[in-house]
Amino acid sequence: MYSEKEQKALLDSTENFLERIQRKDAPEIKEIDRLKEILRYHEWKYYVKNDPAISDREYDALFKTLEFLEESHPDAITPDSPTQRISGDSSGDFATVRHLEPMLSLSNSYNLEDLKNFHDQLLRKLKDEGDLQIDYAAEPKYDGSSISLLYENDLLVRAATRGNGIQGDDITQNVRTLRTVPLRVPFSKYGIYRAELRGEALIRLDFFEELNTQREKEGKALFANPRNAAAGGLRMKDPGETAGRGIEMFVYQIGHASDADGNDLLTRFSTHTETLKTLDQLGFRSSYPDHRVFSSMDELFPYLEEWEMRRSDYPYEIDGMVVKANRLDLHKKVGSTSHHPRWAIAFKFKARQATSRLKEVTYQVGKIGTITPVAKIQPVSLAGVTISSVSLHNEEFIRSKDIRLGDRVLVERAGDVIPYIVKTLPEFRDSSQKAIQFPALCPVNDTDQEVKLVKMQDEAAWRCPDCVCGMQPLQKMIFFVSKDAMDIAGLGKSLVERFFREKMLTDIPDLYRLDYEAISKMDGFGEKSAQNLKKAVEESKDRPLKRLLYGLGIHHLGKRGSAIIAGQIEDVFELTQWTEEDYNSLKDIGPVLAKNMSAFFRDEKNLAVLRELQQLGVNTRSTPEDKPAEKMDGPLSGKTILFTGSLQKASRKEAQKAAEAAGARNISAVSSNLNYLVVGEKAGSKLKKAEKVGTVEILTEDEFYKIIES
Ligand code: IVH
Repeated sequence: MYSEKEQKALLDSTENFLERIQRKDAPEIKEIDRLKEILRYHEWKYYVKNDPAISDREYDALFKTLEFLEESHPDAITPDSPTQRISGDSSGDFATVRHLEPMLSLSNSYNLEDLKNFHDQLLRKLKDEGDLQIDYAAEPKYDGSSISLLYENDLLVRAATRGNGIQGDDITQNVRTLRTVPLRVPFSKYGIYRAELRGEALIRLDFFEELNTQREKEGKALFANPRNAAAGGLRMKDPGETAGRGIEMFVYQIGHASDADGNDLLTRFSTHTETLKTLDQLGFRSSYPDHRVFSSMDELFPYLEEWEMRRSDYPYEIDGMVVKANRLDLHKKVGSTSHHPRWAIAFKFKARQATSRLKEVTYQVGKIGTITPVAKIQPVSLAGVTISSVSLHNEEFIRSKDIRLGDRVLVERAGDVIPYIVKTLPEFRDSSQKAIQFPALCPVNDTDQEVKLVKMQDEAAWRCPDCVCGMQPLQKMIFFVSKDAMDIAGLGKSLVERFFREKMLTDIPDLYRLDYEAISKMDGFGEKSAQNLKKAVEESKDRPLKRLLYGLGIHHLGKRGSAIIAGQIEDVFELTQWTEEDYNSLKDIGPVLAKNMSAFFRDEKNLAVLRELQQLGVNTRSTPEDKPAEKMDGPLSGKTILFTGSLQKASRKEAQKAAEAAGARNISAVSSNLNYLVVGEKAGSKLKKAEKVGTVEILTEDEFYKIIES
């Protein structure tokens, strides 16, 4: 259909147009033919090849640009323009049928201001009504394929695609296979003889994944998204194939309701809520459970935001919310344009995908020396934030996705998720792309000394094993002051970086040796702000031990692990005596962390840092916050306990659980803080040590069970 050369040229133009649209440098009328060609090409990529080269939003932006040009130059509208697609989804295989009521589109809004404008417009249209308070219903905007269902005499008699809105394709036989579409519905209970409903055909996201996995196995082309799979599924020649797509139907509107004489019965319902409730009661899957009514846009808006946040957790694809005036009599009064009703508006969620160019790869070093490649991309707006850097994670990620310098890439940012590269778009390649050469030497290091990167066994990351440039201590400091660690308010990343550049900080203990006199004279500081900083730094000296442990940035030691270990000790230096086995015996501490912990506390450099911190006044002892909550009323309440040797009556885990249930706290090392040592067979060094400490009560297993049963 398109030669490679043509495709290349079309893709070049696409990129050029998109960049200009983003810069608000709108294409001119003389480019309209090219714009049409571009759109036709992307329709082909999307619908025929199932392999879109641009995001949906980008397609929309191009389409809107064309609409805009055509609006101001109607003579440039040609019958083959993508905007003039009649019966958009008609292929000739189905009979054409006319909807009782046109199936219109919705106009779009993107923020609260747009919604308020919409409300004001509605008020203007209704100015004869006097002082008017309009309630609005908000519900999900399902991102599927819209269908109309016609019931007569309680039976489903016809189902049709939206088509051009006036007429669509008769897909009754296919829709009859959908379990969520009831074939018989007691409309007559409401006196209704004929009813036309609108709804959306959707495929659950997890089912869609399965569908594609299956297709991959069968060597079939994959579907680009659930919407395409649903739209295609509804148009199968064999209804059996439709049934296999797992399509579900959600209804959200009654378009027409009349009695046998053709009298309008929609007037029987006073609100949208009522119609939805009725649909729900009639056995349809409807937007009823998810719709809410509000009395102003200000009150409604948080509901839209809530759904935007929940979007990633919702089992079906939704691309926004629909806001509808709740009173149906108002619908009648304001009517519709040829394109959309005036009583409803779509609120579109922010785009989560966009394409961009990978301009450069830079590298970052982490606090333990991990080298992370970072893609610098042409800035794009994603879900409301401008993105110019995206992590490439590691070398393996780059290889597996075949990402090259200069590639056009599809970037996604969903919900709170950090932006990531979904894939490259090799069709955009010319001869300028280059392979990304992962460096052999530390790329962050700016000294003359060379440091070879190493790769640990079973790890994907390359690491700089021996930092000579100071960047690793810098990352350690940034982590140390961060909110979840020592939480030094006012001393954030950028300030640590600045003090590091000014040579006021080289390693963690320096954070407690800042020269506030000098700081008060620095740009952007004064007496007051320097004192505030000092206060925040001083305050951090009293943080619980778990925060200090976490702040040390030991590989694999998270917040939970830090709390568990801190709960076991009185002083951080006890850990110099701990063996890997001691860590391993703790519930929820795995062997990898156990290994890292014992290595960290055997390394003299680390101990020196801790000693310095202690001398500078930083708390190294456990605080009440470090103690796990204890059961107050057990026979061992407030006591610490340790099991050693091989136990006969129960496994060690079970015995520890029983002790906990009796109110005791399991700890893993013998010290004066230990109350009970329970000894099994072949008890060794722990027993000896406990005898030496002298204050530890030594129990046999039987004695232990007697106590807890008491
Ligand atoms: S109401 C008269 N409600 O969005 C128009 N539409 O962009 C009534 N859609 O063509 C539309 N969820 O296919 C409405 N809860 C919902 C919807 C919804 C999805 C679709 C529908 C429409 C398109 C407009």
